[in-house]
Amino acid sequence: MICPSPVLGIETSCDDTAAAVLASDGRVLAEAVLSQADHAAFGGVVPEIAARAHLAHLPGLVDRVMAQAGLGFGDLAAVAASLGPGLIGGLIVGSGFAKGVSLAHRIPYVGVNHLEAHALTARLPSLGLDAAFPYLLLLVSGGHCQCIAVLGVGHHVRLGGTIDDAAGEAFDKVAKLLGLGWPGGPALERLAANGNPRAYAFPRPLLGRKGCDFSFSGLKTAVAQAVAALPPGAIALETAADIAASFQAAVAAVIADRASHAMRMFADEHGAGLLVVAGGVAANAALRTALQAATERAGFRFAAPPLKYCTDNAVMVAWTGIERMRLGRADSMAAAPRPRWPLAELT
Ligand code: KG4
Ligand code: ZN
Repeated sequence: MICPSPVLGIETSCDDTAAAVLASDGRVLAEAVLSQADHAAFGGVVPEIAARAHLAHLPGLVDRVMAQAGLGFGDLAAVAASLGPGLIGGLIVGSGFAKGVSLAHRIPYVGVNHLEAHALTARLPSLGLDAAFPYLLLLVSGGHCQCIAVLGVGHHVRLGGTIDDAAGEAFDKVAKLLGLGWPGGPALERLAANGNPRAYAFPRPLLGRKGCDFSFSGLKTAVAQAVAALPPGAIALETAADIAASFQAAVAAVIADRASHAMRMFADEHGAGLLVVAGGVAANAALRTALQAATERAGFRFAAPPLKYCTDNAVMVAWTGIERMRLGRADSMAAAPRPRWPLAELT
């Protein structure tokens, strides 16, 4: 059966190449994500390598999801692609491809703000999270760490964010200090499972401070100093596990505290409501437990989309395209990629 008004979504803003096709009611008809492994040797994303990999893989990936959905480009009602914020090379590849499809098949093009896509994911009907506007979003990924009041499509207020590293960046840097691979978050969480979270009294930056800004660089430095103070040679597995567990406990405590403040700020304006967590760091079980407790204390509901929709994906981009198309907000070919695109500048 051909679904009415399907939308193709494309995500290329960082190191994941992703494409998805959604029916206009949000049903996912096909989805695929290619995570670029090419960066591991460098311990972080290399923009030029990422852009070339998007260029090499995107056309095939789009063909794959279109075939899975059983559709041709002529069946599409619109095409949406991340237009920013992110790495310029990848944004050019994804948005250029989408504009080509739009021009060739005379369908509307939507240039999606990647942060708004994370924010609106919770509204995907199939998730059943019941995320009506307004709600509060905690976005904790490798590139982003902020609290956002999601008030409507194109209408978001950033309540606070990191003043230095993103939460995922802190996990990745500490993982590197402990000799783990990249990305470090999942490996660090596995190591922490066998450690004592009270073994090291690491600082909890900004804990209890007014507002909901975050800071992780002091914590990272404290871990670096603890590692430097160890006897020379390879770090004993038990010690590494204790450091990982103590670091993770500090991050979870800080993020839960900052989220509690954000919930108070949100509730002052809109009343208690829903806290949604998104971003790769939302995979962390210790963090989820701490957030669950914080939301209960604040009288908020807590929702975490399935992990594959917390990390970068194209379903969220297609869905944002659908939400925007419903309001008649297609974009022109002149819409240029924006490496920096704060939500406050979104309309
Ligand atoms: O959202 P994401 O896939 O990509 C962007 O950064 O946009 O997030 C990736 C980040 C990485 O820094 C990774 O180390 C972190 O999320 N991460 C985790 C876990 N899984 C992924 N951090 C802590 N615990 C995890 N289980
Ligand atoms: Zn992202």
